[in-house]
Amino acid sequence: MVISEKKNPLVGSMTVPGDKSISHRSVMLAALANGTTTIEGFLTGEDCLSTIDAFRKMGIQINQSGTCVTVHGKGMYGLQQAIEPINLGNSGTTTRLLLGILAGTPHHYCLYGDESLSVRPMDRVTIPLTEMGATFDGNDQGRLLPLSVRGRKLQAIEYTLPVNSAQVKSAILLAGLFAKGTTKVIEPVQTRDHTERLLKAFGATVNKTGDTIAIEGNQTLHGIHIEVPGDLSSAAFFLCAAAMKQDSNITMKDIGLNPTRTGVIDVLQRMGATIEVHVTRYIGDEPVGDIHVQGSRLHGITIDGEDIPRLIDELPIIALVASQAEGTTVIKDAEELRYKETDRIQAVVDTLSNMGVTIKGTKDGMVITGQTTLLRGGEYDSYKDHRIGMMIAIASLCTNEAITLTNHECINISYPTFFTDFNELAQ
Ligand code: S3P
Repeated sequence: MVISEKKNPLVGSMTVPGDKSISHRSVMLAALANGTTTIEGFLTGEDCLSTIDAFRKMGIQINQSGTCVTVHGKGMYGLQQAIEPINLGNSGTTTRLLLGILAGTPHHYCLYGDESLSVRPMDRVTIPLTEMGATFDGNDQGRLLPLSVRGRKLQAIEYTLPVNSAQVKSAILLAGLFAKGTTKVIEPVQTRDHTERLLKAFGATVNKTGDTIAIEGNQTLHGIHIEVPGDLSSAAFFLCAAAMKQDSNITMKDIGLNPTRTGVIDVLQRMGATIEVHVTRYIGDEPVGDIHVQGSRLHGITIDGEDIPRLIDELPIIALVASQAEGTTVIKDAEELRYKETDRIQAVVDTLSNMGVTIKGTKDGMVITGQTTLLRGGEYDSYKDHRIGMMIAIASLCTNEAITLTNHECINISYPTFFTDFNELAQ
């Protein structure tokens, strides 16, 4: 795909498709609930469709019409034995959360995924789930897909997260729903808490004290109505684009503003962007609102520690913003980026250096020297990673040459209407 250089600032207001994390969890909890759940604003990106597909293969009736989804839940033990292996495509969230659920079922399932998913570490969930009683077998001594999981009667555990991962936390909490006793997850650094919030919305009791989240086994969930807010991780591409492009002025409307996700807003503010946030309503327990940002003079900052889980998926686009800011930006404590859809440290460093940016990769982050105002066009590959693909597309605002993006289809994973929306804002 050829993306011509974009000279104009971003102007206008729009919303973005539904939140990916909430869409996945809505279907999963709905399948385990008694009764019907209706979901509005569901993200129809490929990852969330993988979740729907997986639950259909386990006998759950799910009707989808555009962004409206109806799930006919069958209760905690209603999943059926699948008659064939389940393909989870590119979706790490589906795989890890599903492993937590399947660990507590009385069945045997085989899971596999695409090339990228097949090299992403799964032992981060199979280790605690094995401790709870489930058994796994898979590639590379059970570390990788394809994986088979045999559910068992589970025992509660107390587990301190060795990586700051909401997926791992969620997998254990979901398994905890099936376990005898109280499962406790200790997260030294707060990660996104959509699972906890949604579990409560479905009628479960989840308690948080300090950094410990506790869930009792043998709970019952009840079907509900859910509205999914716009995905801040998708909106972030345009928020960042507008902040770095002079004279831009945009409002992203109806976006999820859960504080465990808003790191990108804080970072843009710290870099000097004029950015305002208005919480307009709550959908269930999730704050939702509008974000207004103007093109601004930006400067480099350090992004590390507790910042990281609050903006983990936004780091590629933040790195591009840093290339336009004055001074140096240092990103640390983000080794997790190496285990995403691709090694995002390597992908960002290679791509931005080919565009002419002074950028250095480190073990757990990158150092970007700013104010490379004119990037080099040419041919760039998405590494089949949606967030790298969108970063490359946004770079068309900072160049005088066309950009050819190869493997752009992966953007459908999280943001199927990305190019239409981008063209509308940057006419
Ligand atoms: C997600 C959590 C994050 C994030 C991913 C979605 C989730 O992964 O990168 O895109 O929905 O729980 P980790 O929890 O592994 O960091």
